[in-house]
Amino acid sequence: NYAELSAKNKQYVWHPFTQMKDYVAQEPLIIARGEGIKLFDVNGKAYYDGFSSVWLNVHGHNVPELNQAITEQLDQIAHSTLLGMANVPSILLAEKLINLAPEGLSKVFYSDNGATAVEISLKMAFQYWQNRGQTGKYSFITMNNAYHGDTIGATSVGAIPLYHQVYKPLLFSPHVIPYPYPYRQGGEEAAVQATLSSLESLLKERAHEIAAMIVEPVVQGASGMIIMPDGCLKKIAELLRAYDVLLIADEVATGFGRTGKMFACEHDGVVPDIMAVAKGLTGGYLPVAATLVTEQIYDAFFADYEEQKTFFHGHSFTGNPLGCAVALANLRLMEERGVVEQVAQKAINLDQLLEPLRDLPHVGDIRQKGLMAGIELVRDKETKEPYHWNERIGLRVCQIAREKGLLTRPLGNVIVFIPPLVSTPEELADMVRILTESIQDVTTGETEE
Ligand code: LLP
Repeated sequence: NYAELSAKNKQYVWHPFTQMKDYVAQEPLIIARGEGIKLFDVNGKAYYDGFSSVWLNVHGHNVPELNQAITEQLDQIAHSTLLGMANVPSILLAEKLINLAPEGLSKVFYSDNGATAVEISLKMAFQYWQNRGQTGKYSFITMNNAYHGDTIGATSVGAIPLYHQVYKPLLFSPHVIPYPYPYRQGGEEAAVQATLSSLESLLKERAHEIAAMIVEPVVQGASGMIIMPDGCLKKIAELLRAYDVLLIADEVATGFGRTGKMFACEHDGVVPDIMAVAKGLTGGYLPVAATLVTEQIYDAFFADYEEQKTFFHGHSFTGNPLGCAVALANLRLMEERGVVEQVAQKAINLDQLLEPLRDLPHVGDIRQKGLMAGIELVRDKETKEPYHWNERIGLRVCQIAREKGLLTRPLGNVIVFIPPLVSTPEELADMVRILTESIQDVTTGETEE
C-alpha cells in the first residue's frame, strides 16, 4: 500500500513550496489520519503536529464537535453561492466574527484562503480611494521580508527575495520599510526607531499617493517568526492615521488566539481599517477566509449602481456553508473552553521550556509570542554569522525531528514551533525535548571551535 501510494505520489503530484527533484529522491511522508495533536502516517507511525499543519490547527485533529458541525451542515447543503444570495452559516459566522473582532470592524467579506483575503484587502484599499475621488492614492507600503501569500497581488506586497524576486516584472511595486528585527538591528529600541523613522519620512513625502500599508501584526511569520516590540504596532497605526493612509492587518497567521490574544492587533490596542483572516478561522478544518472592514470602508462602496462603486470581486466558493459551519463551531468551542486565555498561560510555560535552548552553542535567538515560536540557528553565536542557506541547517533539524516523531517545517535557519493551541503542558514539554535533541544532533557535529 505505502509503496503504491508513494509511486503514484511521485508520478502525479506536484507539491507546493517544494523542489520536486529533492522530494522524489526521498521516501514521502503520507498522512492517513489525525487524532488530537498527533498525525499518523499510512504505516501507522505517530508524529506530533509541531507546526499545526502549516500554522492553522486549533483544537487538534478529528475533533468530535467540529466533525459533527460539518455532518449536520452536510445534511442541509454542501454549497450554495453568496453572489447575490445568502446562506445560513455564513450569516451566523459573520455576526460571530464581528463580535470577536477589534471594535470598529463591522462588515465581513468572505474568500477561501489567506492569499485571497489579502488580495481582497489590497483591492478594497485601492478602490476605497478611487471611489472617494482621490485617484492619486494608489500605492502601498509593505515591510521588509513580508509574506502575505502567493497570488499576484499578495506576491507584490511580499518582500522575501527567495519567493518573490523571480516574479518582479509581473508585480506592482510597493514602498518597503524595515520590520523591526531586534536580534539583528542592535536591540529593540534601535529596531523600532528604524521602522518608525523610515515610515514617517516616507509618509511625509508620499502619503498623498499611498492608499494603505499592509502589516503582519506583532509577529512576522514566514520571515522567521520576527516579533515587534510592544507598542511598535500602535505607533505605526498612529502615524498612518495622522497621514490618512489605511492600515491593513494581515492576521492570517496570528489570528484566532495564536499569539495569546484573539487577534495580534489587540496586544497594542490597534483597530485596523481592514483585517485579513484565514487559517485558524475554521480550526484548521476547511479553507474559509475573510476580510473584515470598518463601516467607513464599506460606506465608500455603498452607492447608487450608476456611480460604479461596486466591489466586483468574488470566488465560486465564497461563504461555503460547510466551511462556515465548522468555523462557527470552532469559535464557539474556543469560547467554551477558554482557549485564548489558556494560550496566554501556556505561553509562559513554553517560554520556560525553551529557555535552556538559549545555552546551546548554535542557538542565536529564540522568539516567541503565544504558541508561535521560532528558534534561529547561527553558525557563530558571537558574531551572529548565519549558516549559509545552502547548508539547509533548518531542513536537517526538521528531518531528524521527524524521525523522532515531530513534524515541522523550517524557515531557512529558523526552526518553527507552532503547536496546536490545545497542546497540554506535558505535550509541549515532550515536543520541545524532541526539538532540543534534534538541534543538538545536527549542530554538534558542526561545533569544531
Ligand atoms: N498571510 C500570512 C501572514 C501568512 O503567514 C500566510 C501563510 C498567508 C498570508 C497566506 O495564506 P494561505 O494563502 O496560505 O492560506 N511558505 C512557507 C510558510 C508559509 C506559511 C503559511 N502562511 C513555508 O514554506 O513553510
